[in-house]
Amino acid sequence: MPRRDVYIETFGCQMNELDSELVTGQLRALGYRLTPDPEAAGIILYNTCSVREHAEQKVWSRLGELARRKVDQPGLVVGVLGCMAERDGKDLIRRMPVVDILCGPGELDKLPGLLDNAVRTRISLEDGLDAELAAERSAGQVALQGSSSRRSSTLAAAADSLEMLDLSRAISPIDADPEPGTPRASAYVRITRGCNKFCTYCVVPFTRGAEVHRPPDHIVEECKRLADSGVIEITLLGQTVNHYRFEHGAAVVVDGVTQPQKGRSYAGGHRRDPFAGTGVTTFADLLRRIHDEVPAIRRLRFVTSYPRDFGDDVLEVIRDHPRICRYLHVPAQSGSDRILKLMNRGYEVAEYLEFLDRARSFLDQPEINRPLTVSGDIIVGFPTETDDDYAATVALVERARYKNCFIFKYSPRPGTIAFDKLADDVPESVKRRRNNDLLAIQGRISDGLSQAQVGKTLDVLVEGLSRREQKRAAKPGGACGAGGAGGPGTTSLTLNGKGLSDHGGSACAIDAEETEAELPSGPPGTVQLSARTDGDLIVFFDAPAVAAALLIGRVVPVRIDSASGLALHGSPADPAYTAAAV
Ligand code: SAH
Ligand code: SF4
Ligand code: F3S
Repeated sequence: MPRRDVYIETFGCQMNELDSELVTGQLRALGYRLTPDPEAAGIILYNTCSVREHAEQKVWSRLGELARRKVDQPGLVVGVLGCMAERDGKDLIRRMPVVDILCGPGELDKLPGLLDNAVRTRISLEDGLDAELAAERSAGQVALQGSSSRRSSTLAAAADSLEMLDLSRAISPIDADPEPGTPRASAYVRITRGCNKFCTYCVVPFTRGAEVHRPPDHIVEECKRLADSGVIEITLLGQTVNHYRFEHGAAVVVDGVTQPQKGRSYAGGHRRDPFAGTGVTTFADLLRRIHDEVPAIRRLRFVTSYPRDFGDDVLEVIRDHPRICRYLHVPAQSGSDRILKLMNRGYEVAEYLEFLDRARSFLDQPEINRPLTVSGDIIVGFPTETDDDYAATVALVERARYKNCFIFKYSPRPGTIAFDKLADDVPESVKRRRNNDLLAIQGRISDGLSQAQVGKTLDVLVEGLSRREQKRAAKPGGACGAGGAGGPGTTSLTLNGKGLSDHGGSACAIDAEETEAELPSGPPGTVQLSARTDGDLIVFFDAPAVAAALLIGRVVPVRIDSASGLALHGSPADPAYTAAAV
């Protein structure tokens, strides 16, 4: 068994996708090889999510399978990374002794050391070391933040090596490295870690720790390096991304490196930051800097936004800077003020709706083909949710006219305030009914928005072969005409993952995939490409196979011919592409 071949599987949100990419780059630099085949790997890593019970169950069942495999392969090294490692801690190893390594999301810089120790111990085991002794040695491979946030305690004292992990990101030139997880046309850049909001249902403040903002110079530098490598779309990441704020006067410099900064008690809910221009980099300033200083980035996005933190300053910057996408993901969670209060969301429905109206008045310009699209998250079946509360949520969803909405059934999470204080009293059958009902309502709204695009010509960023095309190409004798494109879309990690990734089982996003899978093949000699509009709508179109490599990673105009569910289907509006290729 190849001992240094690593298989890594990622669950959960975009933060985790980025973490896996960073870990992967770091391990490759140390001589590990990545493999897409778990059976061929000597090291299996799961980068896990704890946000709902369902997310954890998937990992438990994978670990159960590995326990059986390890009977025959005692040298196999198994690591659980991410939020589940942090939340379950050593209980996880007790319940699943197959696990050799536990590494929380705030400690990923320590992974190489843990892995090295675990591999050595396992090798000794294979070489005949006493099993008990080996198990004792390998049990030490644990790095968790625990209850104390290391970032809040050590920031002022020492260089933060987690920041170094982001800074040392291995950036490969576009197409040069077809390994899964390599950034190509699209990439994520973290601007804020952690979260201070403590919504009562949510594990994230416990798993990711306190909010910390990265220095703006580091962020801009990372964007420049990505652009130099061929990336043209960047998505900035933060749990409440628009709460970003860096106070330069309070910055700490260690060994010449400016350190990330703890989120301060800054109330949000403002129209304009009162300290803007006085030694503070606000979120609006950061967007403007990236837009102006990294012109090669054709599209700048950010997720996830917090409704209270959208000042007019941010909306103005988006409006006035053409390469910032007019797409906002702003979860409301509920349409009932009573439930929002129990959730500790910090706003009322009227405030949320006021924000939506304000955002649309600034940013919605369909007449110049620049509509604003908004997506949301809703939790149904939160403790005590009545039919009336649910009806209020339906009213909010109807009013919000989201492009898509991720709908979740409340899942009680041990350690959260809701788990301790509120009984999970909405029956599963009611949760399921509300979930399905809301999905159907949102489905109709999404359909309407998609249909409204038919006949328009939209600029799309071509991300790669559609999944249908990838499946076809994977079959023996399957068509794959995109020669030279470097295996586009070989992974859902960075390029095609957004929106279609398992953001918790959004039926809306998954609908798009299923629709795509059912499509008939295009004309002979063509391949189906997958692309995205500025407003994050997915567009499929057929292009001559020989032109595919030219198109991937470019922004091109596509005429929309039809729409089904959330997926739009079109044809290239500029005959030059076809001509250039023939
Ligand atoms: N920081 C983001 C969301 C992170 S978690 C924000 O605040 O918007 C992603 C989504 O999972 C949340 O928006 C919420 O809708 C959902 N979620 C979080 N905890 C949950 C729980 N315990 N049960 C069900 N859904 C949950
Ligand atoms: Fe969780 Fe709320 Fe923070 Fe989002 S804002 S990560 S839902 S605590
Ligand atoms: Fe899940 Fe952790 Fe992200 S709990 S949603 S992987 S921050």
